[in-house]
Amino acid sequence: MERIDLLLTGIGRLVTPVGNAPRYGAEMKEIREIPHAAIAIRDGRIALVGPEADVLHALAGVEIAETLDAGGCLITPGLVDPHTHLVHGGSREHELALKRSGVPYLDILAQGGGILSTVQATRASSEQELYEKARRSLDIMLLQGVTTVEAKSGYGLSLEEELKQLRAAKRLNDTHPVDVVSTFMGAHAVPPEYRGRADEYADLVCEMLPEVAGQGLAEFCDVFCEHGVFTVEQSRRILLAGQRHGLRSKIHADEIQSLGGTELAGEVRAISAEHLLAASDDGLRMLAANGVIPVLLPGTSFNLGLNRHARAREMMDRFNLPVSLSTDYNPGSCPTESMQLVIMLASLNLKMTPEEILTACTINAASAIGRGDRIGSIETGKRADLALFDAPNLAYLPYHFGINHTFGVIKNGNVAVW
Ligand code: NIG
Ligand code: FE
Repeated sequence: MERIDLLLTGIGRLVTPVGNAPRYGAEMKEIREIPHAAIAIRDGRIALVGPEADVLHALAGVEIAETLDAGGCLITPGLVDPHTHLVHGGSREHELALKRSGVPYLDILAQGGGILSTVQATRASSEQELYEKARRSLDIMLLQGVTTVEAKSGYGLSLEEELKQLRAAKRLNDTHPVDVVSTFMGAHAVPPEYRGRADEYADLVCEMLPEVAGQGLAEFCDVFCEHGVFTVEQSRRILLAGQRHGLRSKIHADEIQSLGGTELAGEVRAISAEHLLAASDDGLRMLAANGVIPVLLPGTSFNLGLNRHARAREMMDRFNLPVSLSTDYNPGSCPTESMQLVIMLASLNLKMTPEEILTACTINAASAIGRGDRIGSIETGKRADLALFDAPNLAYLPYHFGINHTFGVIKNGNVAVW
């Protein structure tokens, strides 16, 4: 080893899952824990990691450009948020009173509000305005310890407007420290001009695909498969068309009603299936049989005031699934960028252990966006994406809630927050 760009010493406790692939069921508890650790970084990657004494010994005589003392912090892989609706115009606090008076989420949408109200605001925004608003959210995410996020389109609902959202996301990826991975979600809602003609709109979404894929603006294709939005049949058609254009499938499945979206995720071998509050046993078996990663969004059930939660324990204990977690950050069902809130809710409502939660927010989340080989764990050769928390141990994160524990963030080997 001839040179190290950055050496992190004084790490109180390092916690990380291991490997390049999702961790299944009981494996999610198996994390590596190193007290008094150090990490050496070169060319944006982890060159060496281990107990501080061992790392310092191995680096004897090696040129070290910069050394930072982590002050006894807890260090984890940079958190990965694999399901967000990052780029959109406006906000929906005007629907708060309606929501609080008990009007269901899907009823607000059926009345032309909800997602459709954000469609109006997004269409009325310039690409620059979308970029600037989303950039502020990315700053908040970074301050939460997040280093990679997925971002869906789906508030444009016409070719030009969807491209506008996706271009803003691409520019964010190019200019912001946080990596942004794009998903095309033209099938997020039926736009007002196609009201009552969902089938025709599904055709239009299929016609958008060549342009979206041709311009390299998305890696994944997602559909909101839900009662009153897109049927299983329409969702299948769109997801398979996406696959023909090289976009891997994701699906908002069985969030509110059990419609068969989970089964569809297995059938089309989606990379991930999201929400899953109303998923059937058969559906969960199909996810397991086809290597689909469940992405659970406890902030959404919390904010919608549902007394139901995704069956995370059963998914892990009975179906041996590689559960991951995400904010679902969006202006309607979950207006928060906070992965640390999600960590708390996963403990409170999904009954996940701190170790399972860490795995779900790192290697499993990275795998849900096809990046488990590069990020999601602190191991030699992986990208140096690291989150430092002012916490004595992992259990402290869900325990001491409602505050931001972040002390520092390293992204691609560079200090992004300190
Ligand atoms: O994942 N369920 C559909 N889409 C989002 C909500 C989007 C919105 O309300 O604006 C979700 O919950
Ligand atoms: Fe969503």
